[in-house]
Amino acid sequence: MSDATDARAREIMCANDRGGYTVPTARLYPHQWNWDSAFAALGFATFDLDRAWTELETLFEAQWPGGMVPHIVFRRDDDDYFPGIAEWGVERDPPTSGISQPPVAASVALDLYRQDPGAGEARLRALFPRLLAWHRWYRSARDPDGTGLVAVVHPWESGRDNSPDWDRAMSRMRVADLPAYTRRDTGHVAAELRPTQGDYDRFMTIVAHGRACGWDDEVMRTSCPLLVIDPATTFIALRADRDLAAIARIVGDEAVAREREAAAAHAAGGVRALWSDASGAYLARDVRTGASAGTVCIGAFTAFYAGLGSPALAGTLTRMLDRVSYALPSADPASESFDPRRYWRGPVWPQMNYLVGRGLAESGHADLAARLRDDLATLIADTGFHECFSPLDGTGTGGGDFTWTAALWLHWAAPSARSGR
Ligand code: DGY
Repeated sequence: MSDATDARAREIMCANDRGGYTVPTARLYPHQWNWDSAFAALGFATFDLDRAWTELETLFEAQWPGGMVPHIVFRRDDDDYFPGIAEWGVERDPPTSGISQPPVAASVALDLYRQDPGAGEARLRALFPRLLAWHRWYRSARDPDGTGLVAVVHPWESGRDNSPDWDRAMSRMRVADLPAYTRRDTGHVAAELRPTQGDYDRFMTIVAHGRACGWDDEVMRTSCPLLVIDPATTFIALRADRDLAAIARIVGDEAVAREREAAAAHAAGGVRALWSDASGAYLARDVRTGASAGTVCIGAFTAFYAGLGSPALAGTLTRMLDRVSYALPSADPASESFDPRRYWRGPVWPQMNYLVGRGLAESGHADLAARLRDDLATLIADTGFHECFSPLDGTGTGGGDFTWTAALWLHWAAPSARSGR
């Protein structure tokens, strides 16, 4: 059974390979996505380490001169996806979106290197300055007040598009007078599994703003319609800075190692400001109003991945797990906004369960980590390689034959992957 599921996972990854880069899934997401590629690399590394490195390398080919690594790389236009090259208005080769995504690539590069240092050293050395430029960009462009907390300018930048994390900031946004547009996502997946039309109008309001200012970092900071501190991107960046420090030592750059450790230590001090005693969790915060999000979402628990978990946070996580049948949902099942099948409003996401599960395992919560991993394995083995899953009845939701689900099966959830992680 596991052998057949492993084989199917490899088959999906190869089918989604477009030649040096993978698409997350055919049609719904027909381009290269930033953090999807990083997770894809972990999957490739279980059967083709060379191909795993290539996935990171093609992503960094699209890096902007200022260091930003875009969230989508368009290697060709495709009517299956909206918004495409024209809407983003980025005249680069290859064309890209104008925002970034959670910086998991340094942590993945370190994993690939550790798997085979001899094979990885030259490739790690080549990626190192690019990773460094990206991390510096994150600190200058998305943490402009120097608090150590990372603010996103678009829900897409967090990778958690319609999470309740953004509800308050989204609801006070004035929707621009947009030209008529046709969504493509709802042609591939049922509308009730996707963000609402109101969400899309706001997503496109931000895209119109970014395009108009040429995605200028300073203009985005001062006048973007949305600027929200994201606990997950903050914790992922913090972990990535520590991992980049380890990479710096491997390549012999002690000054950069110290620089990134200092950035991580500063962020670790800053995150206390996001903690809510009433919620027992870290909450997103609107930079413009100072208001916290009202709901506990999965991003809070990436604190474990950053080595900043606590008994109180483990208690909140356990309460969330106890309200569902499978794995860690993306939003609190006790909240009114919870929807078990609509994208980031409740479903179980493989990559988030992996990040949280890995952090739990590393911080002495082996039982909770095993619960997340075992539940994800059950969901995949029973229903297939879906984008995400209902935490209540386990049914698949979103796109099918999904790259990161296949990758994280191979890397983490599969019986064949269980070597202590
Ligand atoms: C989408 O189009 O749904 C993506 O999540 C944007 O990154």
